[in-house]
Amino acid sequence: MASNLKELTARRFGIELALADTGALEPFLARVLARRTHRRYTDMPVSEQQIDLLLAVALSASAKSDFQQVSVIKLKDAARRQRIAQHFPAMPWIGSSPAFLVFCGDARRLERVGAMRGHAIVNGTLEGFFNAAVDAALVMQTFILAAEGVGLGCCPISVLRNQMPTVAEVLRLPDGVFPVAGLCLGHPAAEGFVSMRLPPAITVHTDVYDDSRLEAEIDAYDKRRHARHAIGRDQQRNPAKFGHAEFYGWSEDKARQAAEPEGALFAEHVRRHGFTFR
Ligand SMILES: Cc1cc2nc3c(=O)[nH]c(=O)nc-3n(C[C@H](O)[C@H](O)[C@H](O)COP(=O)(O)O)c2cc1C
Repeated sequence: MASNLKELTARRFGIELALADTGALEPFLARVLARRTHRRYTDMPVSEQQIDLLLAVALSASAKSDFQQVSVIKLKDAARRQRIAQHFPAMPWIGSSPAFLVFCGDARRLERVGAMRGHAIVNGTLEGFFNAAVDAALVMQTFILAAEGVGLGCCPISVLRNQMPTVAEVLRLPDGVFPVAGLCLGHPAAEGFVSMRLPPAITVHTDVYDDSRLEAEIDAYDKRRHARHAIGRDQQRNPAKFGHAEFYGWSEDKARQAAEPEGALFAEHVRRHGFTFR
């Protein structure tokens, strides 16, 4: 694996960043710069001990107010897992990866702790939901980095949230507990590729927010990304609705995707199961 800053940032951003190049990069930084999602795995199992070690590392992530509002479910029962996976035939890795975890925001535990100590706690607020979601996301990303660090591959699975009735029933989620994402885990079957990121010129701001260069930067990003991994004409989203674009870049793809938003069923589920968002 490359450890050269220029090479790694060029792969990640498609441009040379004005970063001080001090020679070989610290291996952890190099690994994160080169990280990627993996959706295909060999048959080699991931041992329970390894998963538990990675979870211990992941649970070392920062936690808002030390409230520690995450719960991780190791979904080992094949029949339960298939009941979820069958909803997502376009993502066969959900049912077939050697291991599958679900990272949940857990706003329930704090209410139970309050009950134990005789303090009434209402944690179904927007703040309670947001804190729990952030805690779960931090733990999941720490798990991903740890897993990738020992040669495993991962794929987060947020589409679970589009099938909340099944997911909540299969995992017996009580009110106040919701999935942030599932996570496929296994030994990568292929090297995979680095997904090019938007340039820091538009994602990093100094002192004040400034997106005045957004359009020019997005156009340039689209072209860089297209030059590396063009999205084929047959992969254009919903041509029946949007037609075929002559040039189909990241921004057209993401705008089409976001024009048909997901999440309505998830919003309905959490409102009925513990969250008022007030
Ligand atoms: C919160 C979250 C949810 C995601 N959900 C899915 C999913 O449901 N299915 C899937 O195949 N990939 C999913 N992904 C993977 C993203 O598509 C992937 O991270 C993105 O394309 C960038 O690629 P990279 O991680 O290789 O840089 C998810 C990623 C995140 C962070």
